[in-house]
Amino acid sequence: PPLHSIINCDDFEEVARNTLAKKTWAFYSSAATDCYTYERNRSFFSRIWFRPRILRNVSKIDTTTTILGHKVGVPFMVHPAALVKLVHPDGEKGIARGLSKENVPYCVSSNASYPINEVVSSVPKGQPFFFQLYVNKDRKQSEALLKKVRAAGCSAVFVTVDAPVPGKREADERVSADASTNAPMTGAQAVNDKKGGGLGRIMGSYIDSSLSWDDMQWLRRCWDGKVVLKGIMSADDAKMAAEAGVDGIVLSNHGGRSLDTSPPSVMILLECQRRYPEIFDQLEVYVDGGIRRGTDILKCLCLGAKAVGLGRPFLYSVNYGAEGVDHMVDILKDELETTMKLMGITDLSQVHPGLINSLDVDHL
Ligand code: FNR
Repeated sequence: PPLHSIINCDDFEEVARNTLAKKTWAFYSSAATDCYTYERNRSFFSRIWFRPRILRNVSKIDTTTTILGHKVGVPFMVHPAALVKLVHPDGEKGIARGLSKENVPYCVSSNASYPINEVVSSVPKGQPFFFQLYVNKDRKQSEALLKKVRAAGCSAVFVTVDAPVPGKREADERVSADASTNAPMTGAQAVNDKKGGGLGRIMGSYIDSSLSWDDMQWLRRCWDGKVVLKGIMSADDAKMAAEAGVDGIVLSNHGGRSLDTSPPSVMILLECQRRYPEIFDQLEVYVDGGIRRGTDILKCLCLGAKAVGLGRPFLYSVNYGAEGVDHMVDILKDELETTMKLMGITDLSQVHPGLINSLDVDHL
């Protein structure tokens, strides 16, 4: 279908389902075991309601904000997903180019198809890039990688902490391994795994499961940029992250791909907001998982998030190359503007928890 006929995230997903190679679709769309978390990431948003305000002159709308000090046109970013070349030959470079207009930050995966310096240098200087790090069992390799990441111009590293082992993604494992898709990776070492041929497991074999809070000191020694922990799933860990002095956290369950029945991402956000509201002043809080609508974005912001991240929607949109990614950004921005107008706010400094009615889940 032509790009102009695509009007929301789900449309891109539907095209991807019908056009991607079976193995690629299985890798991108799959989630852990029974997919409860994957499903609830999205459906939980339907239990959080707005308290819209009226008669507030919403003729002019401003969706700009800052993320880790970067001025951005919209309060969302593209979160890391491995092997984008599987969907389009431009891979991560296609995503990067599609993000230029709104200066949307791109957090590039440790398991990207292109080396980080090539991705960053494929667009004009100034566009924000972050790097997602899986800490390698061989720390020297991670240290060398971080040097390259810094030289490439990334201002922050997102350390993924919710996947000391790859989750069990059965749809991915059922599709038999095809060696040709394992080739172009940075950081990863492809090995065969007797437990199944899933791409997730094959790529995850180098990840250091001994990582602990003590390693934050190691990280600060070999990385002088900002540090974000990606994959916080409880308010208590959010509090610990704030105490550890990191610059940001991503409340995330890896898009339902790690621990099944870990809480939906917006539920983690609600818990943080109720139990430790002070952390929102100490670091930037981001949320990812199941965000598909302008309403989802604004709900997270009202509950204290600085921005949100999207994973799969951008994988599905780069099916159309950079143009598809640009279109995805336009759709989300347009939905967000409409939501803001209907909520009675004109810029993102006006968000606050009072605009949310969460009575539906208050007994939880
Ligand atoms: C991911 N995600 C991920 N996260 C990460 O830290 N490093 C990675 O390499 C990957 N790889 C990856 C591949 C694919 C195919 C998917 C779908 C996801 C998780 C990702 O960053 C993000 O947390 C979720 O995708 C967010 O959920 P949604 O937006 O996909 O629902």
